[in-house]
Order: sequence, then C-alpha cells, then structure tokens
Amino acid sequence: MTTPQQPRAQWLGRWGFVLAATGSAVGLGNIWKFPYITGEHGGGAFVLIYLACILAVGVPVMMTEIAFGRRGRGSPIDAVRRVVTESGRSSLWSLLGWMAMLAGFMILSFYVVVAGWSFAYLWKAVSGGLAGASVDDMAAIFAANNANPLNLGFWSTLVTLATMLIVGKGVQAGIEKSVRWMMPGLVVMLVILIGYGMFSGGFIDALRFLFVFDAGSLSSDGMLAALGHAFFTLSLASGAILTYGSYLPARASIARTTVTVAIADTLVALMAGLAIFPVIFANGMSPEGGPGLLFMSLPLAFQAMPLGGLFAILFFVMLSMAALTSAISMVEATVSWLVDNKAVSRRTAAWGTGIVLWLVSTLAMLSFNVGADWTLAGRHFFDWLDYLTSRWMMPLGGLGMVLLAGFVLNSATFRDELGLSPRWHALWLFMVRYVSPLGILVIFVDALGIARIEFGAHWPWLAAVLVAISVIGELASPRLRRTLAG
Ligand code: TRP
Repeated sequence: MTTPQQPRAQWLGRWGFVLAATGSAVGLGNIWKFPYITGEHGGGAFVLIYLACILAVGVPVMMTEIAFGRRGRGSPIDAVRRVVTESGRSSLWSLLGWMAMLAGFMILSFYVVVAGWSFAYLWKAVSGGLAGASVDDMAAIFAANNANPLNLGFWSTLVTLATMLIVGKGVQAGIEKSVRWMMPGLVVMLVILIGYGMFSGGFIDALRFLFVFDAGSLSSDGMLAALGHAFFTLSLASGAILTYGSYLPARASIARTTVTVAIADTLVALMAGLAIFPVIFANGMSPEGGPGLLFMSLPLAFQAMPLGGLFAILFFVMLSMAALTSAISMVEATVSWLVDNKAVSRRTAAWGTGIVLWLVSTLAMLSFNVGADWTLAGRHFFDWLDYLTSRWMMPLGGLGMVLLAGFVLNSATFRDELGLSPRWHALWLFMVRYVSPLGILVIFVDALGIARIEFGAHWPWLAAVLVAISVIGELASPRLRRTLAG
C-alpha cells in the first residue's frame, strides 16, 4: 500500500465540495438522459420510482460513499481497501473499487459522445445551423450530425481533450469556480424554457405525462432503468463521488452535503422534464424519441421564442459546461489512482487515461454511423456501455457498498465519519442495512424474471416483508442497539 507523498488536496470547505459534487451530479444525466428515458418508460410511474430510488437508495449510498472516500483518503480502490483493512476485513472487498473505476471509465466513454452532441449544437446555434422550422427538419439535423464519423468524432475528441486538460491541471482550479456560475445559469435557462412551455399548448399534457402515476405503464425493465438512473444521475458507484469525498475536509457534514446535492440534482432533472415535454406534446412528437429527444425538441422552442437565438447559445453553453464538470469527475478516480500508485505526475496520468478514453469513445461514437450494424444481442457498443453500467455495475456496486457499511465494517468507522446524532445514525443504518439493499434486490429479482412483482397491487405485503426482515435482522444482531447506546 502506497501512501501519497503530500497531504491530499482538499476542497475549500463545505461549499467547495458541494459545488464540485453538484457539478458532478448535474449533467447530461439530468437534462439529456432523464427526459428521454422517462419518455421511453411511459412517464409518471417511472418518475415516481426514480424519486423513490433517489430517496431510499441514492441518498444512503451517497453518504456511505463520501464516508468511504474521506475515511480512506484515496481513489475508490485504495480507499475501500484501507477502510476494510482498518476493520480487519478481507481486502478482496476492494474489488468494489475496481468495479466502480471501470464503471466510471465506461460511462465516460459514451458520455463524451453525448457531450460532443452538446458542443456540436452549440456550434450550430452560433453559426445558424439550427434553422429549420419543422419537426422533421430537427430530426434530419440530428441524424446528419451523427451520420458523419469525422464530424461526430471531431466533437467527442474535443470534449476528451478539454476534459483531460482540466483534469491535468488539478481538482480545485476551475471546477468550483465554473460550477458557481454554471449552475445558476442553467437554472435560469430552464426557467425560461419552462415559461415558454407554459404558453406553448403542451404544458398540461407534459404535467400529466410526468406526474400522473399510472402503475400499468411501468415494466420491470423500467424499474431497473429508474434504479440505474438514480445511481447515474448522482454519480454514484462509479468512483466519482467517492474520490471527491476523499478531498472533503474532516469537519464538513456528510449528511447535509449529500441532501443538498441530491435536492439540487433532482430539481434540475424535473425542470428539464418540464422544459422538454411541453415542446414534445405541442409539436405532436412522440415522447419515445430516444437519445435524440433533447436535441430534436428544444431547438423548436428556441426558434419560436423571442431572443431564441441568443437563448439557444446560452443553453448549449451551460449544457456543455455541465457535461464537462461531470466528465471531469469521472476521470478523477482513475487519475488519482494512477497518481497515488504508479508514481506518475497528474499530467501524465491524465493524458494516458485520455488516450485510452479516446480509443474507446471513438468506438462508441461509431455506433451512430459506420458501426450502425455492429450489434450484439440488439445493442450497439454505445448502448452496451450504458446498459452494463446503469443496469448492472452501478446497482450491484451500490449494493456491495451498503452491505459493507451496514453489516461488515466496524460501526465506529461510520459513526465517526458521518458524525450523526444517535437517532439519525440509526436511521442511516436502517436504510443501508435494509431499505437500500432490499430495494435493489427486489428490482433485480423482478427484472431478471425470477419473480414478476406487481408493485401496484402488492406493495402492502412487500412493505410488510421489508419490516419483518428488518426486525428479524435486528433481533439477530445486537449491533443496532449498541449503536443507539452510542
Ligand atoms: N451524474 C452525471 C450526470 O447526471 C454523470 C456522471 C458524472 C456520472 N460522474 C459520474 C455518472 C460517475 C456515473 C458515474 O450527468
């Protein structure tokens, strides 16, 4: 085990971390992915499950991850290994850290392609390339942007370069400052779009689509997608938040920062939904438009509103910035691991990672043009990266983390790191021991087809089973009582 030579860099107090973590969390996941997967999975019921997953799984996992990072002061692999050895447990658990780092890298490989879309649209907004009035024109513009591998590759390469340049320069410089104005800017743009949407004629339909719960519209796959997205949107189980946590000063409250970030992230996602769906319904488009949904809908709104040309530019600037602050957080885990373990400089680590990233992301980019036929079991390489990480690696990694924290490690570790009052600590422990793991397992059992669970009809007995398991679990182990006793 190597120890870093200098003391680890730290954020500038609690706000520095909140800003950076918000920058990581708020990104394409909120504005691009959330609306399009909500559209694909039928709306309201999906949104409700997603919110439940944020609350029951996302928040507890995030607290656990930050605590791991701060306790272990290192990249996911090193931090998890240090924390488990401190409790005298097998260092094999650091496999969780490996999986997280791999997931972060895989996500980044398709993320830079989508971020490339955002940059390409920024350029189109500046150069007038978004002109075209009809719904069909927008679909054609999106298709044309994807059809040429040189064009698409140019933009994703640009994103890769920008990300590595920033990461090579170090964690603090830039990230905190840029998030400070990017976030409010993004919110203002969304408010303008929502304001426009209210008068576009599609607002009521959008509200109904997003918030009316229709249990019948939710498939098992939709449940798993909602769970996976809770991980994705909060940057969990992929090294990002854990690594950021390793730079968190000892006195900052993990619970409060977590709740702040989760609320900000959720609000931005819901606002993005409220900005996009009115345009979809007002123009008679299908909510199931897939990954191009954002890019095919919002330009229609910008075209129709006063000062739309200017707003389009501002919006894509903010979106590109949001994408970059997220991309940076994904590389940070890998880079900090290389720096701590391989005796390379930050710059070398960043550029080395960048080259591998460029190769993999180029393959992902080709899924949209040259490689349109290269599918395996009906999925492109791009889709596989998304599918494996969101549906499998992140939920399973998160499950491992909460089980580790809830049952395996010394309870003193988390009592120290979280620093909660006994009551709140007991609640956190209850969540990581029962609510989060059972939530994840139930969704997996359902999605794997082991048992089809009719959530709409069966939730009372599901809840009863959950309570029963928790009570039995607690009677079987006296640890919670000891925890409560302080
Ligand atoms: N949370 C970001 C978003 O919503 C994406 C992201 C950043 C991410 N870092 C991550 C996702 C790490 C998974 C893992 O756009």
